[in-house]
Amino acid sequence: MGKDVIIACDFPSKERVFEFLDLFKEEKPYVKIGMELFYGAGPDIVREIKRRGHKIFLDLKLHDIPNTVKSAMRVLSSLDVDMCNLHAAGTISMMEAALEGLTRPDGTRPLLIAVTQLTSTSQERMEEDLLIHEPLDKVVMHYAENAKRAGLDGVVCSPLEAEKVHTVCGKDFLTVTPGVRFAGGDVGDQVRITTPEKAKEIGSDYIVVGRPITAAADPVAAYRRAVAEFVD
Ligand code: C5P
Repeated sequence: MGKDVIIACDFPSKERVFEFLDLFKEEKPYVKIGMELFYGAGPDIVREIKRRGHKIFLDLKLHDIPNTVKSAMRVLSSLDVDMCNLHAAGTISMMEAALEGLTRPDGTRPLLIAVTQLTSTSQERMEEDLLIHEPLDKVVMHYAENAKRAGLDGVVCSPLEAEKVHTVCGKDFLTVTPGVRFAGGDVGDQVRITTPEKAKEIGSDYIVVGRPITAAADPVAAYRRAVAEFVD
């Protein structure tokens, strides 16, 4: 499986995304579409970006009863996305149902990745709000193992957790890692960060990079820098 840089297209409107993608004349970056853009612009945004030749990670983080997730995944699969995700907290049966829904009649399907514990959840919140009393990293690894047991392709995690996920779940189990910043760049609201180069060293399979590319003075140059450090 080839390593790639996925650009988080966190723009509020279709116009802004296309204005951004139009900057890329030579390459067709892999893009991540999140809830804001999908709910605002509708499923057509996926079809249009796909038509322009980009690969798409649709980041909608599904979590519901197995049958509902299965039906929803069938719709996402027909949108021809390349990667989508769900919450591992929905249980192994929910993840198995999701895979079933995602698999097309010809046996092909988008990659399916699980969110373990959101990076916004602290140990304290997990214990007090969710009554989960195990250490956070143990919970993350347990959810990753559940995702693997259900047949999923990998997890979204911090680049700093990628190595451990590979040790626990095998090197072919994908790690998709946000929280990437260039050396000397603006950290913003991310806390546990790493550079593209370091993410490569640790063994991330895909890095998700938003503002260091989308807010750069020259987004194409920033994208090329990320590719040069992470992929090449
Ligand atoms: O702009 P930035 O590089 O921080 O964007 C990272 C992207 O990855 C955003 O779309 C953010 O929502 C997403 N993400 C994250 N941390 C997670 C899961 C998703 O930053 N744990």
